[in-house]
Amino acid sequence: MDLKTDIFEFFDEGWPILTAGNKDNFNMMTISWGEMGTLWGKPVVSVFVRESRYTHEFMDKEDYFTLSFVNRMWYNEQLKLLGSKSGRDMDKLKETGFTVFERPHGISFTDVRMIIVCRKLFKQQLDMDAMPEEIRTKFYKNGDPHDMYIGEVVEILNDTYKDERSSNLYKTGIGTGDSSSRWTVCMSNTGTYTAELYFMGAGGAHQWLYEIDKDVFDQAGTFENDDYKTEKLIKEKGRRLYEAADERDSQAWQAVADTDYDTLCSWAHIMGHKEQ
Ligand SMILES: Cc1cc2nc3c(=O)[nH]c(=O)nc-3n(C[C@H](O)[C@H](O)[C@H](O)COP(=O)(O)O)c2cc1C
Repeated sequence: MDLKTDIFEFFDEGWPILTAGNKDNFNMMTISWGEMGTLWGKPVVSVFVRESRYTHEFMDKEDYFTLSFVNRMWYNEQLKLLGSKSGRDMDKLKETGFTVFERPHGISFTDVRMIIVCRKLFKQQLDMDAMPEEIRTKFYKNGDPHDMYIGEVVEILNDTYKDERSSNLYKTGIGTGDSSSRWTVCMSNTGTYTAELYFMGAGGAHQWLYEIDKDVFDQAGTFENDDYKTEKLIKEKGRRLYEAADERDSQAWQAVADTDYDTLCSWAHIMGHKEQ
């Protein structure tokens, strides 16, 4: 999993939409408090939800929750609505005009630019007696404490690949084996799924491009101790479109299996192309 961010602005500026539930029954709200880091050897996110929120009921009931980041300039009205009205009183999904995007676990929206899927590990109420007086007075005059939910990050979908803006969603991973490839899977805004495997070692570089399906996209990076599993899955289930190598002891070469490879994978930096 790959994520580049300024950790202190991530929640405060990002205003993610916290969503919990299944496709028939879920709720979401805007949040701006949260933390990311490492706990129990896992990549984790903590969010803080007051007991009074309708979303709180779903956070208690469900095993997974998601954080969905939209472009704040474009979706300011939606974020304000999700952060001021309750799902108890209105159909929030209808009001935002968003479209549900089901993940293997959890719910997000096709309109977003980043999705983080978390498996709930832990919940605890923030103990008001253990807080500094000025915090208690400022935030908890009327009670309604925050519950802290810690979730293990199990999936990150991001629309930025190599820092270029696009409206596709990507997941990337470096594998954990000594010689496993970096992998990237992409869901394009036209609904096609493609993948890149890229390996660079002392001997040179090797790239493979594939067409894949939604199942492979969904499964990529979700394996426990991923190692070669995502790479293997893409190689086994994907349809190879292109392969290129630039190895130290031989001439660079490319093998085209489908001439549409560069249209299908226009998001990738394709090895062997002159503009590189
Ligand atoms: C920018 C912003 C950040 C917010 N952050 C939080 C938060 O971190 N935790 C929380 O409990 N409520 C937070 N809220 C308030 C909830 O989003 C708001 O109460 C919402 O209406 C709850 O909706 P629900 O009842 O449908 O769950 C925030 C609101 C805004 C506008």
